[in-house]
Amino acid sequence: MPGVRALPLSPDASAVLADRITPPVGSAMGKPGFVWGVATASYQIEGAVREDGRLPSIWDSFSATPGKTLGGDTGEFACDHYHRWDTDLDLIASLGVDAYRLSLAWPRLQHADGTANTAGIAFYRRLLEGLKSRGIQAWVTLYHWDLPQHLEDRGGWLNRDTAYRFADYAALCAREFRGLVTGWMTLNEPWCSAWLGYGEGHHAPGLANPRYALQAMHHLLLGHGLALDALRAHDPGTPAGIVANVERVTTDGDTPADHDAARLLELHRNAWVLQPLLAGSYPAELWSRLYPGAEPLVLDGDMAIIGRPLDLLGINYYFRSNVRAGADGLPVMVPLDGVERTQMGWEVYPQGLEDLLRGFHARYRLPPIYITENGTASADSVVDGRVDDAQRQSFLKRHFAAVSRAIDAGVDLRGYFVWSLMDNFEWAFGYERRFGLVHVDYASQQRTPKDSALALQAFLAQRRAGQT
Ligand code: FCB
Repeated sequence: MPGVRALPLSPDASAVLADRITPPVGSAMGKPGFVWGVATASYQIEGAVREDGRLPSIWDSFSATPGKTLGGDTGEFACDHYHRWDTDLDLIASLGVDAYRLSLAWPRLQHADGTANTAGIAFYRRLLEGLKSRGIQAWVTLYHWDLPQHLEDRGGWLNRDTAYRFADYAALCAREFRGLVTGWMTLNEPWCSAWLGYGEGHHAPGLANPRYALQAMHHLLLGHGLALDALRAHDPGTPAGIVANVERVTTDGDTPADHDAARLLELHRNAWVLQPLLAGSYPAELWSRLYPGAEPLVLDGDMAIIGRPLDLLGINYYFRSNVRAGADGLPVMVPLDGVERTQMGWEVYPQGLEDLLRGFHARYRLPPIYITENGTASADSVVDGRVDDAQRQSFLKRHFAAVSRAIDAGVDLRGYFVWSLMDNFEWAFGYERRFGLVHVDYASQQRTPKDSALALQAFLAQRRAGQT
């Protein structure tokens, strides 16, 4: 494979590596049928932002604005996946995974007047056919944050019309790519789009007003429901759902106010998205307690569209936060000392994933769950052709065990996708934060599988041989 350094491993070395990552013996995760995959997103890997009629996205504008990303990094070149997709698919195949989660770039697929961009369609058709010919399932996210800038110029997700434009785009994707997709996901992490993009301003489009965030969330979720209808109309056989990021929130305080503050922040992180999707309503404490006056405008019939039954729910999990109550009883972040953290500063807390899954299972009627993202960033470098990412291996193994416990507790969890296939543009943190199983040298575009990739590969080979 040009541009990929592979390491020949003896069977003994493979067994040792697999052991660093393997889920508990006898776990459902080691059985055939459980879907193992790796994940990426268009803007984070593709580059080629001006090619073949691609329109500017909000992330092109945001990352080009001084001070918005670490080191001024942008997705202009990223992993150059737009040109290297074929060898990148070989790389994915070499890992032995069942599935690849990718996202489609809306700005590549539609011209500003809403008509199809045939060059963009041809690119993703080649990619999806390339996966199919390699026997890899394609799990496709329609929107992983790269909104066409021309829609932002008309208000973006603050404009209700964007939800309808999203449904048109979903219909186009379903018509063009049906037969090549195993599972559709409408939005990736609407919480991040709404809160980080419109509430705090750390993500594109960089607005900072909680009222905007609540309204943007409503239009995102409305767009999701309309897009589900469109996917089902044009590709009825393929399961469709959405991906939500979730966060465990606890308190090390001991007053009732501290516990209430933790409950409120967890509601902001999780129930804000999951409750409308799974139970048909917003948690009203969002505007009665957390952000007075920020109640979004909701039209008759919207909640029924948002609450359309899901065929699958993707869960992305990374960390836990600790809070205490401030003088007003509202949550205040109090980072814990002495805990293990990643390159992002995020606490490593596998138990939080089990707790959340069990909690959602008790509270909602859940569709089949897939962990669509979980992984960690570390300051990896290549030494003598090898990347020793011990923390990632240990992180993954502990999270696999947590997932396995949730399955044992009755959660219908059917797959797990590692974030990420390879190091990539980590949004506001640019290229410094490395989430990949595969190391990317951005100057040469050399890919080097890290030890975690080799460990995953070895585990999946054992699974195929019926040894797990
Ligand atoms: C998630 C995003 C993904 C990646 C990981 C680290 O919030 O969905 O694109 O950046 O975080």
